[in-house]
Amino acid sequence: MAATLDVTGRTRVYGCIADPIDHVRAPMVFNPLFEDRGIDAVMVPVHVAPDRLGEAVAGLKAQLNFGGMAVTVPHKLCLMELCDEVGRQGQLVGAVNAVKFDSRRRMIGDNFDGAGFVAGMRAEGYEVGGRSVLQLGAGGAGRAIAFALADAGVSRLVIHNRTREKAEELASAVLTAYPEVPVSVGDADPDGCDILVNTTSIGLHSEDPLPLDGSLLRADLLVAEIIMIPERTKLLEAAIEKGAKVHYGRHMLDHQIELIGEFLGCFP
Ligand code: ATR
Repeated sequence: MAATLDVTGRTRVYGCIADPIDHVRAPMVFNPLFEDRGIDAVMVPVHVAPDRLGEAVAGLKAQLNFGGMAVTVPHKLCLMELCDEVGRQGQLVGAVNAVKFDSRRRMIGDNFDGAGFVAGMRAEGYEVGGRSVLQLGAGGAGRAIAFALADAGVSRLVIHNRTREKAEELASAVLTAYPEVPVSVGDADPDGCDILVNTTSIGLHSEDPLPLDGSLLRADLLVAEIIMIPERTKLLEAAIEKGAKVHYGRHMLDHQIELIGEFLGCFP
């Protein structure tokens, strides 16, 4: 990795905090981008156990050349509690996936999961504002995406989840934050909707069924996934077969990287 060979006293240091650490991908994504763009920065893995998080944050705050970090499992919730300031999406979701230190070394956090999804859709030419959306799933990712869809001004949001109470809780939280957006809990039926978004984990494994009855897919539907591997989930295969437009899961991560880089201040 050439970027780390060129590290000097002037190099800005960023982190990716996690436990376990072996699986983290952010350094492998950010470091080549720093190199390609000629940015004098490096991202290092920061391995911190949950019970030492407070100490670790105090140490990082004191490290003046440390600009901030991408945040992943299991620190997204606890790190939010330690932030001096949290952006609106982070507050709504109740978790942060990036934190930065300002000039006074105050820790500012936010969540870019949902914004990354919406930015990815827009970059592919799919505006969500003014469109009606059926969202499958109300887990962690689903929560972030529902708030971001409401923020982007969807004309209607229907949430379906296996555990109905979670869909009800999410719909009510979205409605409280965005009273102008019609949000409801419904069946896994995209009738009357322009866009179907699968935020469940159904599709990660080859033996998984479709997350809804395949006969309900239509040619005039846009079907979006957030699953990255496999790229073509069974749902996207079924949608393509019906002649529908599809949106791949990788776009959410790609655009989140840009948003997090801008937030951390490492992409000028
Ligand atoms: P993530 O952080 O990736 O969003 P999560 O918070 O565990 O993961 O959420 C997983 C989502 O997939 C949830 O909406 C979950 O439904 P429940 O809330 O009912 O658990 C959904 N999900 C996972 N496996 C499912 C299955 N076999 N059938 C239906 N929904 C499923």
